[in-house]
Amino acid sequence: MLRDRNVLLGVTGSIAAYKSVDLARRLVANQAHVKVVMTEASCRFITPYIFESITGNQVYTDLFKDPFSHINLSKEAHLLIIAPATANTINKFSCGIADNLLSTLWLTYEGPALIAPAMNFRMYSNRVVKKHILELKQAGAQFIGPASGSLACGDEGEGRMVEVEEIVEAALAALSKKDLAGQNILITAGPTAEPIDPVRYISNRSSGKMGYAIARAALRRGADVTLISGPSSLEPPRGVTFIPVERASEMEAEVFKRFKKSTSVIMAAAVSDYSPTDIAKVKIRKKDEMSLKLKKNADILRELGKKKGGRVLVGFAAESGKDIKSAVAKLKAKNLDLIVLNDISRKDVGFDVDTNEVTLINKKGRIMEYPIMKKIEVADIILDRMLEAGK
Ligand code: CTP
Repeated sequence: MLRDRNVLLGVTGSIAAYKSVDLARRLVANQAHVKVVMTEASCRFITPYIFESITGNQVYTDLFKDPFSHINLSKEAHLLIIAPATANTINKFSCGIADNLLSTLWLTYEGPALIAPAMNFRMYSNRVVKKHILELKQAGAQFIGPASGSLACGDEGEGRMVEVEEIVEAALAALSKKDLAGQNILITAGPTAEPIDPVRYISNRSSGKMGYAIARAALRRGADVTLISGPSSLEPPRGVTFIPVERASEMEAEVFKRFKKSTSVIMAAAVSDYSPTDIAKVKIRKKDEMSLKLKKNADILRELGKKKGGRVLVGFAAESGKDIKSAVAKLKAKNLDLIVLNDISRKDVGFDVDTNEVTLINKKGRIMEYPIMKKIEVADIILDRMLEAGK
């Protein structure tokens, strides 16, 4: 999404300006062409040279150095990010004051704009600042944050610039096609954990990375996303309706609660096929031998397949080897539109890593093989094929 896109980063005079160095670095790492405009005040916090080194581009600080920079920079930009944005710059933007390069180019800029405020919480709650933020929002600017927490001056409150990852995520979303707008996508992820006693459980190997990546990609593309996740150490993407669960039976109940309103369901979770028949109330003492009696859990996806109506159903097939035959059998047995085959015998893909190599099979029997790639890229392919299968 950011590859070969021109991103203009406006930096204003806040202590959080140092975080924008990392922001510029990450935008460049995402292959964006980054140009930085700094206000005079921001140059008191960090030097233009640091941005020049990171972006490989000249840094713009002076309105009068080139008579048309305020027009040309904004014309070529696909995205404008103001981070950090001080109260002063926000107020100027809203009032149309053009007294430096950044505030002047704001008046010429017509594309998407992200503003990440950073200021003391008293300034942020100031009536005038609030009014100008509202006006800029109404004019189409997207504000990210500020976050709450400890502020540079020692105060606690709302006013911290959000973390850089959040700004990068917003940038990716701002430049994504919104082809999933209006879709309500239900995604399951992670393992389920079936308790044996208060301290032990049986589970499946799954980090949740693939399901969370699909949720993130769907959000960027404009979908309403509900993520039902078994235990995972991952942070749910901002903007999802997040439902944490533990047991397969809880996942089943939550899926069926939300199924009606969804337009598609993607079951990326590694649901436990079995759970202990009895859960001991107190810790089971160790013995030389022990056996567990297990009962079969419901196959959530198979049940969904019986009631799918017009919804698009996507399942995963975890197989020891590239077993297309078994994946096709699961697709048919569960009445799916699309199945994602994962070869779990491979060490470099699948569990707990950021890459995956998948084969997709649709209900028409079309087999689509892909090379190893990042899970976020696999996520976009799954969503593309899901859209196609729904037509
Ligand atoms: N699935 C489910 N409920 C279960 C087990 C699996 O909804 N109790 C879903 C998974 O989320 C996945 C698909 O069914 O999308 C296939 O899961 P997989 O473990 O590959 O296959 P199973 O049907 O469980 O069969 P097996 O374990 O014998 O391969």
